[in-house]
Amino acid sequence: MINGASGGVGTFAVQIVKSFGADVTGVCSTRNIDILRSIGTDHVIDYTKEDFTANGKKYDLILAVNGHYPMTAYKRALKTDGTFIHVGGSGAQLFQTMTLGTWFSLTGRQKMSSLLQRQN
Ligand SMILES: NC(=O)c1ccc[n+]([C@@H]2O[C@H](COP(=O)([O-])OP(=O)(O)OC[C@H]3O[C@@H](n4cnc5c(N)ncnc54)[C@H](OP(=O)(O)O)[C@@H]3O)[C@@H](O)[C@H]2O)c1
Repeated sequence: MINGASGGVGTFAVQIVKSFGADVTGVCSTRNIDILRSIGTDHVIDYTKEDFTANGKKYDLILAVNGHYPMTAYKRALKTDGTFIHVGGSGAQLFQTMTLGTWFSLTGRQKMSSLLQRQN
């Protein structure tokens, strides 16, 4: 699951995980649905119409590239032994990943953390 899949980071992420054979769900707004389909995204969710954390589906890996959800919502959308990685979006999301996400990781099998890379 890639939340914020249609931008600069997300479109690379979709193609990289597809190259590993993953079944990929991408979240974007209505205007970018065709872009996500054109790069091989298996399932596309329009965040203006559906909250992917509330539809009952659970994912092995969630990349939070943009958008904001409470950590409890991301936790709910993760499989029991799933991994959540914060990549971008709001500072509040980063703060919550470092605090609540760390707590969830310490107290359960799900892993929640952040990725930080220097752009070049
Ligand atoms: N961790 C790192 O090392 C690292 C490295 C580079 C960048 N970043 C961060 O990653 C983030 C994304 O960068 P980018 O270059 O990909 O930006 P971008 O090209 O502007 O793309 C952002 C995407 O997020 C989508 N989006 C906006 N609101 C959303 C929402 N509520 N729910 C889901 N998706 C939403 C947009 O889709 P629509 O247009 O369809 O709304 C857009 O395609 C930024 O915050 C950036 O600072 C982090």
